Amino acid sequence: MAENDLESTAKELVAPGKGIWATDASTPTMDKRLTAAGITPTLETRTMFREVLISTPGLGEFISGVILYDETIRQRTSEGIGFVDLLQKQGIVPGIKVDKGTVELEGSPEEKVTEGLEGLSERLAEYKQMGAKFAKWRAVISIGDGIPSQRCIEPNAQRLASYAKFCQEQGLVPIVEPEVLMDGEHTIEKSEEITTAVLLNVFAQLKEQKVALEGIILKPNMVLSGYKCQTQAGLEEVAQMTIRTLLKTVPKEVPGIVFLSGGQDVILATARLNEICKTKDLPWKVSFSFERGLEGPAMEIWKNEVENGKAVQSALYKRAKLNSLASQGQYLEEMENEL
Ligand code: G3H
Repeated sequence: MAENDLESTAKELVAPGKGIWATDASTPTMDKRLTAAGITPTLETRTMFREVLISTPGLGEFISGVILYDETIRQRTSEGIGFVDLLQKQGIVPGIKVDKGTVELEGSPEEKVTEGLEGLSERLAEYKQMGAKFAKWRAVISIGDGIPSQRCIEPNAQRLASYAKFCQEQGLVPIVEPEVLMDGEHTIEKSEEITTAVLLNVFAQLKEQKVALEGIILKPNMVLSGYKCQTQAGLEEVAQMTIRTLLKTVPKEVPGIVFLSGGQDVILATARLNEICKTKDLPWKVSFSFERGLEGPAMEIWKNEVENGKAVQSALYKRAKLNSLASQGQYLEEMENEL
């Protein structure tokens, strides 16, 4: 794919009022969620849940792209329609998670590095054949006593950049996701400091490995107080510190920034996104790429009313619509009760 094709896909993914839905939980993670919901985890139950969600009518009004998982990209509905075809019919761009998860960093068991570079080009070529136009790789950085270390930040940044380069060579837009986890007692200032360091390393590596910034999407965490921090920053402070961090670190050539939800309360994630997106004149488009922030409430309903597909779809549609409004700075909390 020529560079301008990458750019146009990247722009399509952050079209006004649209965001990306990540439904790319790995099989073990998905199985954990199903088990917690009291449902026996099997290929059939995993497929059933995803089929209900992917078939939600009207999703394409708010969702530009969907990140699938290796199992899901190959699946079909009970009527035999491929999930990829179903998305394309709604005008949604199919994408694929391509990292192979994390392993312990040698000598520092609390830190992780992401794996998956081996054989990546071949896998990307296969996914492209199946209709994927973009990919995702997630690096995970924890904040804690004496961590993260540069020994952890650096290889994660290097691997993200190598993955991005492979994607662009194969004609897929890489979503570059360096997630600084918000678990823990750290302050929002610490979150800003670590997110800044991580993003600076990532962009230095992207430059080093000659990745075309116009053809990537960045998927960062919001800058928040650690979930166990005694003082929780309010909406305005979160927005101001998140934007400040991004302005310090993300080159203007990057077309779009889409936030992960990271296990925040779903309503708070929407309200924070809204506050961030009220900021005018940013150099990049800003939106969402949530998993739990979009499908969390749908999973709750499914758990209790597995037969009630319509209610499950309404729950996903509602969060997609509210996050779409938030990506335009037009969300109000009272809308939670109106939809
Ligand atoms: O890699 C993480 C997902 O793509 C985003 O998930 O919104 O639940 O953090 P999340």
